[in-house]
Amino acid sequence: MPSPNRAASRLLADISATLDSLTAPAITDPVAWVEERLGFGLDPWQRALLIDDHQRLLLCCPRQSGKSTIVAARTAYLMVSRPGIRIVALAPTIRQSAMLAAKTADVLRDESLVTETATKLVLANGSTLDALPGDQPKTVRGATADVVLIDEASRVRDELVVAALPMVAATAGSITMLSTPAGAAGAFFDAWTSDEDEWLRSQVTLADVNHYSEKTIKTMRRRLGERMFSQEFENRFLDAPGALFSAEDINALFSRKTADAYEPVIPATTWSPLF
Ligand SMILES: Nc1ncnc2c1ncn2[C@@H]1O[C@H](COP(=O)(O)OP(=O)(O)O)[C@@H](O)[C@H]1O
Ligand SMILES: [Mg+2]
Repeated sequence: MPSPNRAASRLLADISATLDSLTAPAITDPVAWVEERLGFGLDPWQRALLIDDHQRLLLCCPRQSGKSTIVAARTAYLMVSRPGIRIVALAPTIRQSAMLAAKTADVLRDESLVTETATKLVLANGSTLDALPGDQPKTVRGATADVVLIDEASRVRDELVVAALPMVAATAGSITMLSTPAGAAGAFFDAWTSDEDEWLRSQVTLADVNHYSEKTIKTMRRRLGERMFSQEFENRFLDAPGALFSAEDINALFSRKTADAYEPVIPATTWSPLF
């Protein structure tokens, strides 16, 4: 048990971090704030997304275009600028949800984080990010959030999307599903192709991504073949997607040091259901 002195000084440190965060200057230029922390310039579509305020957003993008990066950066911006915001990150596996948390933590690097684990971030201003396992929809049910993010949404189980929608019902919160296509089926495909106008559908094309080199794209086209290339880089929802390359294989082709190659170490004790 910590001594009363140590407990008191920890309490004082927490109070001081909270006061610091409450008196921190507002972010007047989110694009500059994010670019400075990422160390590179954002593409125009990423800039637009950073300050987007839609309740229901579908983002369909090529592999390695920077969709997780910008959604994580927006998460960091929201956590700093809206004290107390509750954000839930979902993806097909806990490893992928945790990757979104890791990217968010990278952008939050100078902020006062009172909790930082592979699956949970808490800022001194009360904002939280919980990375939950999309392959266990039962653990998600009943949670409440102001923002729900579903990464690699074409690869999550339909049941997860059904469990995620009510999470924002009571808070009038927002849901963003982001993905590269993975076959003409599933909740992301259904939402993308439905005529309901409740979703804003935003598509990013090869030409919108400035960091692809011509050589990389040529190599990808050659290695994947036209059909798979059209799925991975041209937002085509194929009727019978080939299983020749997994999403991970394709990410790994880019470079060993892509963010998606990051393998967080998740001690069993850091993961627990949210509520
Ligand atoms: N605007 C950008 N300029 C340069 N590199 C970027 C930009 N956006 C993202 N990246 C880099 O591209 C790689 C893929 O980004 P990521 O967000 O993981 O892609 P996706 O989620 O679309 O597969 C990462 O190394 C990331 O740092
Ligand atoms: Mg990604």
